[in-house]
Amino acid sequence: MDPAASPAEKVRRVNRRKGIGDMTFKQDGGLSRRRFLGVAAASVGAIGAGGMGTSRTLAAGPKTVVRNPLRLPPTLSPAGLSLSAAPGVADLGGGRLSNVLAYNGYFPGPTLRAARGTGASIAFSNGLSEETTIHWHGMIVPPLADGHPQQSVMPGGSYLYQFAIAQRACLNWYHPHPDGLTGKQVNLGLAGAFIVNDSEEAALALPAGAYELPLIMRDAKLDSRGNLSYKAGNSGFDGSLALVNGTRDAKLDVDGALYRLRLLNGANARVFRLALANGAPFALIGNDGGLLASPAQTAEIEFSPGERLDVLVDFRGLTSGTRVMLRDLNSGWDLLEFVITRAVDPGYQPPTGALSTIARLANPVRTRTFSFDGMSRINGQEFDMNRIDFQVPFGQTERWVFSTGGNAPHPVHIHGASFQVQSRTGGRGRLFPWEGGWKDTVLLQDGETVEILIRFDAFSGLYLMHCHKLEHEDMGMMTNFEVV
Ligand code: C2O
Ligand code: CU
Ligand code: CU
Repeated sequence: MDPAASPAEKVRRVNRRKGIGDMTFKQDGGLSRRRFLGVAAASVGAIGAGGMGTSRTLAAGPKTVVRNPLRLPPTLSPAGLSLSAAPGVADLGGGRLSNVLAYNGYFPGPTLRAARGTGASIAFSNGLSEETTIHWHGMIVPPLADGHPQQSVMPGGSYLYQFAIAQRACLNWYHPHPDGLTGKQVNLGLAGAFIVNDSEEAALALPAGAYELPLIMRDAKLDSRGNLSYKAGNSGFDGSLALVNGTRDAKLDVDGALYRLRLLNGANARVFRLALANGAPFALIGNDGGLLASPAQTAEIEFSPGERLDVLVDFRGLTSGTRVMLRDLNSGWDLLEFVITRAVDPGYQPPTGALSTIARLANPVRTRTFSFDGMSRINGQEFDMNRIDFQVPFGQTERWVFSTGGNAPHPVHIHGASFQVQSRTGGRGRLFPWEGGWKDTVLLQDGETVEILIRFDAFSGLYLMHCHKLEHEDMGMMTNFEVV
């Protein structure tokens, strides 16, 4: 590629090479009735669950925002699942339908849930007009099930993803990973949660059922017809509104009880800094790779694309009618309003003692350094899906050191293993409570050097490391390595 070309132009070239003429959603004159009927059956759940109605708050001034019921996608087992990716429609709020890309007609896709020790067998069919793959971000799966761009599924094609679920309880997620098209497909709607449960977690009796909420936070841009619209900016996609589970200006009626929020930053490029408007702390209990060793109280949590958080929020004792807003302090956006509507308390208690035992990685055999440079390079090279950049011995602990010459945030993500963050120097100069335990994505800001320990002890073969700012990934800030 021409190094002088602007990043946006590079993305356009990738798309032209792939025969995709336009970065925005193809309109075909908007939603014709025929088209709507064609997709309506598949989308009934998405529309029904979100509710066509909106709650109108009594006018308290010109700034009153009509808030929309939070959408909660259905929960499915990944054992023997058929999953499709195809154009669909979703009610982002207010009863107006928007064109999106959807898994099984849902935006976000169905929440997959499975117990450790079981397996996934997912028959995927590609109903898009371009190639795609599915990557199970955070799931430790064999290379051929990992959604590498080499395993691209052509339009009309299908692929069977099969893997054992052998890892500890955690919140993971699934999303497309095709060469140069990931940012667009994720942004237009393709993403879903994948929850793993185990007995260690069950023993803690954490809030469950209606008291456990998977929340996918992201930003979005709408075109003049209200359809999701993707344009890659030079420093990554920058949306103008927030969506939580595909719902704008979301609200949720809750009980005066303890809730478990399973948060995923599903944005292409945006870093969120979460806080509750009433100043109450989050009890942080887990992150990407599952439970932390012990809970931590924190009033603010910053997380970048691809990272997950497991937090408890305590509405016990709040009276009916109380409203608590989950906000993003970076953008000033109101993300999700909790409205306490019932004094019901099922009795969930926050765990006080240890949550889990984290075996520490130690004594690295070697050190590798990676520089995330410009908007498209790691150690000077742009991604080539057919070039293997380095080999990592199976079962050996290594120290990997990440640095950048600028253009952050770079959320660094590794496939095939979880890692333990050791240190951050420069920039923010410290580690945060949500960076303990096991991680698969860590935020690298300008001026920072981040050091991790990692060991690949599940599978050998081809895996990826990349910047999870999806525009950087698509422009080439990704590297292939082989576990041998
Ligand atoms: Cu969530 Cu390789 O990506
Ligand atoms: Cu991944
Ligand atoms: Cu980056």
